[in-house]
Amino acid sequence: MKGIVFTELLEMIEDRFGYKLVDQLLQESDLPSGGIYTAIGTYDHAEMVTLVTKLSQQTQIPVSNLLRSYGQYMFTAFTRSYRPFVDRADSAFSLLSSVQHYIHVEVRKLYPDAELPHFTISQLAENHLRMHYVSERKLSDFAHGLIEGCLETYGEKATITKTNLVEDGSQVLFDIVKE
Ligand code: HEM
Repeated sequence: MKGIVFTELLEMIEDRFGYKLVDQLLQESDLPSGGIYTAIGTYDHAEMVTLVTKLSQQTQIPVSNLLRSYGQYMFTAFTRSYRPFVDRADSAFSLLSSVQHYIHVEVRKLYPDAELPHFTISQLAENHLRMHYVSERKLSDFAHGLIEGCLETYGEKATITKTNLVEDGSQVLFDIVKE
């Protein structure tokens, strides 16, 4: 995964739990990268799983909750680093609808080795967007947080219902219904 995923994760941990915990996690995790990430570098996705699993052990917060909070945090980071994608969309549904065929396509042009999920997105009603997530990385909790972060950015409220389609979490349906 790209370095930005790791630098933002460590920043979130520092913000929420303090730099001492970041130091401790990096020391204990014995990561191939040594915990040194640059924004344009690429690192093994397993390092993210290791860091979040260790963080969960230290904080007693379930991995799924941590990934979801991290997704929310990450969306805010995207609004800073990739402002044009956000400016181009005038609502949360407009941005979410463009993830598969525009945003992640542009991300892939910037980073040919990016590991991106596949989304099938359909608008079922004016207030109902459905996103079908498929990824071998099984990061649907992270996706959940990104969707929440997106709604928050546009000041919109919606109910998100998450349905696991496959037991291993590699295929998940999100039904987002605006209030
Ligand atoms: C401005 C908006 C966005 C930008 C710039 C962006 C960019 C990226 C980048 C750079 C990665 C990391 C790729 C890698 O490490 O190799 C990523 C991964 C991911 N993105 Fe996006 N993204 C955006 C919006 C979204 C939204 C709204 C969703 C969810 C609905 C989403 C879902 C995901 C997921 C779940 C991953 C993790 C990889 C996986 O599950 O396989 N992204 N995105």
